[in-house]
Amino acid sequence: MAQPVLVTGGTGTLGRQVVARLRRAGEPVRVLSRRPRASDDDGVEYASGDLATGVGVEAAVDGVGTVVHCAGTQKGDGEKARHLVRAASAAGVSHLAFISVVGADAIPVDSPFDRAAFAYFASKRDAEIVVEGSGIPWTTLRATQFYDLTFLTVRAMAKLPLIPVPRGFRFQPVDSGEVADRLVELALGAPAGLVPDLGGPAVYPMQDLIRSYLRATRQHRALLPIPMPGHAARAIRAGANLAPDRAVGRRTWEDFLSRHAAALSRED
Ligand SMILES: NC(=O)c1ccc[n+]([C@@H]2O[C@H](COP(=O)([O-])OP(=O)(O)OC[C@H]3O[C@@H](n4cnc5c(N)ncnc54)[C@H](OP(=O)(O)O)[C@@H]3O)[C@@H](O)[C@H]2O)c1
Repeated sequence: MAQPVLVTGGTGTLGRQVVARLRRAGEPVRVLSRRPRASDDDGVEYASGDLATGVGVEAAVDGVGTVVHCAGTQKGDGEKARHLVRAASAAGVSHLAFISVVGADAIPVDSPFDRAAFAYFASKRDAEIVVEGSGIPWTTLRATQFYDLTFLTVRAMAKLPLIPVPRGFRFQPVDSGEVADRLVELALGAPAGLVPDLGGPAVYPMQDLIRSYLRATRQHRALLPIPMPGHAARAIRAGANLAPDRAVGRRTWEDFLSRHAAALSRED
């Protein structure tokens, strides 16, 4: 019987798509989740555990060959990775594939303001360092922001009567399904270390992303450009969160937006 692939975060936006692709490739899959669940009809086994505390992680990695580490939150991903690699190393895991974010190593988070507003990048970098130093053969893929997150962010911003927009911020969002395709390809291949970034097909000023959402949902709002202080914001204005030379994503924001905006108007 083949060893299962453990997908941490296998209940999340990216992880669910990773699980589906692994199953289509015929791999036995185990998902780590904080919420206990019964195994499903598609042959996915669930292990309950919490990477923030380490509870349940040893049992989750037991007998596993490859781990695809997609679990993450805004903060504390270094600690989550530490709990995971400790258990995975003891269990003899042979490949740890990790999803990180473009800019993890290039966006300094060193002032109190940076830590309050941009802790995410430091947290991903902490986790990358833990993966690199784990002694487990590893692969790390950095991706830009997923369309799903971009959509949720602009949707939340559009609830405000006047939308504050950090001056000079640009994004290069990408389809999370395409990230799942690449991550599964990497996880099923040989450990490759840090691989080339994965970015979406186009770079957009933040105000253009918001305006396109407003147009697609037939709303009108005023935008208010605001200066954003700190080193992290300066790095973002300089493009440290972008990968223009790795604009390999094919699905466009316009396509994603039209489908999701249509679904939103059906809900309304
Ligand atoms: N979203 C983006 O734009 C983007 C871009 C680049 C990289 N990434 C990275 O890609 C990964 C997936 O992102 P996503 O947007 O798919 O995330 P998501 O939808 O928010 O899902 C997060 C997942 O992490 C799991 N999780 C969170 N805390 C956990 C803990 N303490 N122990 C165990 N599991 C925990 C959750 O599982 P349960 O709730 O079931 O426990 C959930 O499945 C993250 O590491 C993120 O940093 C995201």
